[in-house]
Amino acid sequence: MEIQLWRSILCPYELAVKELVLKFEHIITEHRENDLYSPIEQVSGRVKSVSSILEKLQRKHIPMERMEEEVEDIAGIRIICQFEEDIETVASIIQKRTDMEIKSEKNYLKHMKQSGYRSYHLIIYYTVETIHGPKRLQAEIQIRTMAMDFWATIEHSLQYKYKGDMPLHVTERLSKAADAIISLDLEMSSVRSEIMDAQNSSQLQSNLIKDILTNIENLYRVSNQREVMKIQDEFLRVFKTKDLRQLERFHRQLDIISEGYRAQAVNHNI
Ligand code: GTP
Ligand code: MG
Repeated sequence: MEIQLWRSILCPYELAVKELVLKFEHIITEHRENDLYSPIEQVSGRVKSVSSILEKLQRKHIPMERMEEEVEDIAGIRIICQFEEDIETVASIIQKRTDMEIKSEKNYLKHMKQSGYRSYHLIIYYTVETIHGPKRLQAEIQIRTMAMDFWATIEHSLQYKYKGDMPLHVTERLSKAADAIISLDLEMSSVRSEIMDAQNSSQLQSNLIKDILTNIENLYRVSNQREVMKIQDEFLRVFKTKDLRQLERFHRQLDIISEGYRAQAVNHNI
């Protein structure tokens, strides 16, 4: 196939990867804005390189004209979660979306691959708008924990190094490491609620502080400087206590003060 043709085939996949990454990143943002724990920690994506596509066509005896149907991972998205429980949450978020249709799933969590590989895979249909009109294409979404990702990354590099001919002692080491990853994920899950609480309150605190500072900034415009300085000093005092309740109380008080100024401004304008 000519270079130009490859580029035009892969172009909609580039768009799909960009859109999908953006959409999953936005799920993280939405959770954080709402002081909620995000089941997604990190998202990345890539379009399969021409040489990997060619290699796969050869390996699986797929004719060129069947490429887009049969190579399901031309667009690839990887979603990293903190805990194993989050994987299911992410899968159900995807299931409920109207812009992604699940074609198939592979659960390598329930059925670990012989290599020791664990992940949850979804093949989805996704439509992008191109200058030639809408195009429905396939994308592979891999969902795994940070620990599973660590293992898969190392194993992938070793596979690359040994080019499919991995020595037995390395395979055995990897298999042991895979067992250790299973216990690590289990161990982390057992302290999940505590970790989630800690992360929630740290997110809550950072959103509160952002709100308070915006409020103080607005007060600068409408109130006298001395009063705002006093408020700012009080904020610093509360901030230093690192006590979420005090911070919340201060936030409410500040809201009342700001509300008062807003009411005054309205009366003034009338
Ligand atoms: P590929 O031809 O490799 O894409 O496999 P497949 O089409 O049979 O699908 P499968 O679900 O087995 O694998 C899809 C993708 O999962 C691969 O492209 C890898 O990114 C990843 N994967 C699957 N098995 C392994 C493994 O043993 N080790 C690592 N590191 N990754 C794996
Ligand atoms: Mg693949």
